[in-house]
Amino acid sequence: MNNLEKEINRRRTFAIISHPDAGKTTLTEKFLLYGGAIAQAGAVKGKKNSRHAVSDWMEIEKQRGISVTSSVMQFQYNDFCINILDTPGHQDFSEDTYRTLMAADSAVMVIDASKGVENQTRKLFKVCAMRHIPIFTFINKMDRESRNPFDLLEEIENELGIPTYPVNWPISSGKDFRGVYDREKRHIISFEATGGHHKLAATEVDLTDPALSSLIGEENRSTIMDDIELLDAAGDEFDLDAVHSGRLSPVFFGSALTNFGVEPFLENFLKMTPPPTARTAGELTVNPFDEGFSAFVFKIQANMNKAHRDRLTFMRICSGKFDKDMEVYHVQGNKKMKLSQPQQVMAQEREIISEAYAGDIIGVFDPGIFAIGDTVCVPGKKFEFDPIPTFAPEHFQRVYAKDTMKRKQFVKGVTQIAQEGAIQIFHEPDTGMEEVVVGVVGVLQFEVFDYRMKNEYNVDLVKTGLPYSYIRWIDNKDLDPKKLKISSDTKLVQDFRGNYLLLFTSEWNIRWALEKNEGLVLSEFNKGELQ
Ligand code: G4P
Repeated sequence: MNNLEKEINRRRTFAIISHPDAGKTTLTEKFLLYGGAIAQAGAVKGKKNSRHAVSDWMEIEKQRGISVTSSVMQFQYNDFCINILDTPGHQDFSEDTYRTLMAADSAVMVIDASKGVENQTRKLFKVCAMRHIPIFTFINKMDRESRNPFDLLEEIENELGIPTYPVNWPISSGKDFRGVYDREKRHIISFEATGGHHKLAATEVDLTDPALSSLIGEENRSTIMDDIELLDAAGDEFDLDAVHSGRLSPVFFGSALTNFGVEPFLENFLKMTPPPTARTAGELTVNPFDEGFSAFVFKIQANMNKAHRDRLTFMRICSGKFDKDMEVYHVQGNKKMKLSQPQQVMAQEREIISEAYAGDIIGVFDPGIFAIGDTVCVPGKKFEFDPIPTFAPEHFQRVYAKDTMKRKQFVKGVTQIAQEGAIQIFHEPDTGMEEVVVGVVGVLQFEVFDYRMKNEYNVDLVKTGLPYSYIRWIDNKDLDPKKLKISSDTKLVQDFRGNYLLLFTSEWNIRWALEKNEGLVLSEFNKGELQ
């Protein structure tokens, strides 16, 4: 194996998803502790990032650098080089989650053991399932009174529609939580809290060991023996192929806060989750081990540092090796360039890097040339990675600047925020940008947009809610959209590529438009958009 192969093979890139408060931040922090990337708990900043309340988001936005810190992190653990992608916990930002998942090779879903599958878990899981990536489940907070583990698994299977395979099994819960049973090794790992240190005293005991009763208590011993019998008799077989294609979710129990079960989880997870996987570019499959660097843009974040008005573009490297001085080719811009100040976040520090490999995420300073989904590769190659789909917006507002003198800032803000993929913008046919129709998937996005326009671009907005909930692209190229017969509560708009669309208030109106306009072809999704 040459060095390139070795480096790529040791990479693991995954996203972490959860309903807010299930313990995503705590678990991430424990991973970093194990990797030696941070020295003590409580060191991961920006933990309240993207919580349910917008005020939390705003708070974080005051420290934009920090929110990025928590969004992409790299650390080393044993021989692995791990990239963790954080995702917003709120479903209103699930489009952001989807884009992040495009850059990941697997996902870890954190579930609160006393609550089970929660609202946002459902939605976020659905987004994961669309990508068909491996999904690992960590059932957290076992140090609190938890629901019955069998019931929790049943709920995951029924509500999320994915069979589960418990890799380990909890020994009691709450104050009596003693550790986990490792089903593969068929032994008990019993933990003992050691005053907040991340290295726990873990005792591994065989099921047949007479010392077991005294270690975990006779009642727990007897329960675990019954549970094991049930699991072995009733459960699905472990099938790594099914895990890799997102058809079986390995489940782990533990407590991120007290560290119980975190290390066994990390070790098993790293064994099961795949090294960097291939990506497609039309007919072409781009293999991570292919010679020649390539990457795609999945996230853009502007104004991370208000003083500098900078914009960071995040790319997932899909093949080969990146060197900081290398010349690359931006396919969509048809331009050769050097990527400016390539950086990675190592635990909390942003570091300028000199090299990176397939599977890694790098951030580069962007003067405004990149868009979500863009391809960058070695000069001489020319292909475009499949576009990152956008979700169909379901809420719309008409928006303009309160102060007409602020037109320039308004256009800049609206355009940049739309380029980041934080909103979608439309306009009435043949009008400029003085007034736009903003479309979002979740209403919280409106509030974030409003806040950012005020704080980053110094523009107060006048907003009028629009009653539309459905968006359809007009596929016909040979008809004049302005001559369509549409009901008075249907609106014709254009996106910024010039495509015509209709905004409807009801499905009934969509049918009406199709009936009244023979040959009209409407599609729910633009090229590259989601089903
Ligand atoms: P999130 O990123 O998924 O939103 O969750 P986060 O890790 O911030 O955890 C949410 C709350 O749950 C935190 O408490 C955290 O300490 C607690 N928690 C996380 N894992 C466990 C666990 O395994 N057991 C128990 N008992 N609690 C856990 P908080 O009071 O909201 O925050 P803090 O004041 O402790 O920081």
